[in-house]
Amino acid sequence: MKATVIGLGYVGLATSLYLADKGIQVQGYDIDNDKIAKIESGKPPFFEPAIEQLLKMRLNNGFEVVNDLGDSDIYFITVGTPSMKDGSIKLDYLRNAARSLGKTLKSKEGYQVVVVKSTVIPGTTRDVVRPVIESESGRAFGHNLGLAMNPEFLKEGSALNDMANPDRVVIGEFDKQSGDALEKLYRQVYSDLSPPVVRTSIINAEFIKYASNAFLASKISFINTIANIAQRVPDADVQQIAYGMGFDKRIGKQFLSAGLGYGGSCFSKDLKALVSFSEVLGYTPELLLKVENVNEGQAIHAVELAKQQLGSLNGKKVAILGLAFKPDTDDIRDAVSLRLIKALIGAGTKISVYDPLAIGNIEEEMGTAITYSKTAREAIRGTDCCFIVTEWSEFRSLKQADFVTAMRTPVIIDGRRLFKPEEFSSPVRYSAIGLGPSVKLGV
Ligand code: UGA
Repeated sequence: MKATVIGLGYVGLATSLYLADKGIQVQGYDIDNDKIAKIESGKPPFFEPAIEQLLKMRLNNGFEVVNDLGDSDIYFITVGTPSMKDGSIKLDYLRNAARSLGKTLKSKEGYQVVVVKSTVIPGTTRDVVRPVIESESGRAFGHNLGLAMNPEFLKEGSALNDMANPDRVVIGEFDKQSGDALEKLYRQVYSDLSPPVVRTSIINAEFIKYASNAFLASKISFINTIANIAQRVPDADVQQIAYGMGFDKRIGKQFLSAGLGYGGSCFSKDLKALVSFSEVLGYTPELLLKVENVNEGQAIHAVELAKQQLGSLNGKKVAILGLAFKPDTDDIRDAVSLRLIKALIGAGTKISVYDPLAIGNIEEEMGTAITYSKTAREAIRGTDCCFIVTEWSEFRSLKQADFVTAMRTPVIIDGRRLFKPEEFSSPVRYSAIGLGPSVKLGV
């Protein structure tokens, strides 16, 4: 089977390489020449564990980059749908991709399937992709041309692993033949795994993606709400509360890590798009608005914790360890670190930062407003407070003695529960989001 992937961003490249590795012949297409040049030289345009290795292995050996959309059985559209100011999604890339694909399909014979994999608001495949392709190609979906929507659920930092172990495959189909073709492809790719395949309408598939991300974001804001209450209760610890909750199968253990909240290019963008979509329909989804409010408040909450330890932060030196929106990525889109840096600058602090991968990206954004360190130990030197913002495992090597020796005042605000409170004693003062007062050691 031959597949073409249009848009070699995060989802597109990961999908291409994974399918190629499973024996599908994949052609990758993108309009960004810099991106193409990087990929052709064996370098992924973003950081993701194991992607570079797989690219080197599959480039021109199952996966090739093409300048024109050629012959394929299946065409996946995986272009970005970034946020606009009002929260709705920008559809320009999707329209362009549909236009190019429509032109290509004009001269094709036999049966092909167009599959939208980009995250799009319910109705977009029907109202945007379908008419553009039909008018450009002069062909009608349902007659030798299939249309499907197949949302992606992979997480940055574990993209290939998530692709290899999906909880489910969702196929929204316009015509049964397109659903059959896509199911056949996935049954071949996941032959030894057989994940549940959900076949549904295109509208529902589009909805499933948004509802899933909105639910996961809600779960995080929920546990952060519990954390913010527990914070004020002697001896309470949100980590233990979440642990006890997670055994209930109806609740589940995942996505109950309280802390600084969610960042990244998906949750906030998708929530805003869902809210904006809903408002156009005449319904304000208050719950989803609150999920975002709670999330935005978590950085301020961490600043308050520092104030409890140090009084006014004006003139204080602080360190931020971890800048990426999560470990194993250099991505800082909508990262909590940016919110925290802005709040700390507002409070009059001098900031030194360190991250194993994302430091260059933050430097581009923040310029000379903060100081950049080459190691975690360098970042905390001479500071009054250290914020743990991303749970990189290398930070775990920092011990009580490192903080005591390096810092002027050894105050730690652990925004990701990287450490256990019992690892520290006086003079270190350790606080963490969701940890009630009396269990803070050294206070
Ligand atoms: C998210 C979804 O998890 C994927 O299923 C989805 O495919 C993807 O968005 C997308 O729409 O493309 P991603 O944003 O890459 O994936 O990363 P997550 O692992 O979900 O983490 C998002 C944020 O939530 C991170 O900042 C993380 O630190 C935070 N988080 C996660 C918490 O604060 N607590 C948790 O318990 C879990």
